[in-house]
Amino acid sequence: MLRVGVLVSGGGTNLQAIIDNCQSGAIDAEVVCVVSNKKNAYALTRAEKHNIPRYAERQEEEIAKILQSHNVSLVVAAGFMSVLSPDFIDKFRIINIHPSLIPSFCGIGYYGLNVHKAALLRGVKITGATVHFVDAGCDTGEIILQKAVEVLADDTPESLQLRVMEQAERVILPKAIQMIAKGELR
Ligand code: GAR
Repeated sequence: MLRVGVLVSGGGTNLQAIIDNCQSGAIDAEVVCVVSNKKNAYALTRAEKHNIPRYAERQEEEIAKILQSHNVSLVVAAGFMSVLSPDFIDKFRIINIHPSLIPSFCGIGYYGLNVHKAALLRGVKITGATVHFVDAGCDTGEIILQKAVEVLADDTPESLQLRVMEQAERVILPKAIQMIAKGELR
């Protein structure tokens, strides 16, 4: 069973998708701890509801200690709004979910709703989400999975964000974790 530590900052819909897929047996993994760098993140409440050890911690060194104490073999950044240092990245195998089709709308400053605002401003007709390995750059790691989502004429950043979460993120993030659990990615 793959031991997964999840890093969060916000609502935790991706965390919920991982938990649900673990519980249904769709992925051979267990969420062994959740760490938020925001103490009021609703994601922490979701973890509490499932009796998953949870921590509010901003210091990267402390986050690393927590993950090591739970013996994680995969770290999932699921809406984690902070760039990880090369030191931290060296210690763990880490994947990230990003709400666009990388290399569009990614890198410094592109996170959360900003990504969807930028997509609408540019007028793209297709957007989506990407799961990738985390390397020392910002959204530059090897791509694992992507899923496209249609942009509608009357979309707002909020409506687009919701569609990308529902149609892409909650599909490809659990799928990528299962690929890793099955040893399909080296
Ligand atoms: C998600 O849309 C995720 O892709 C994005 O933040 C949202 C978090 O939602 N992540 C990034 O922008 C990272 N650069 P959640 O807390 O409900 O999972």
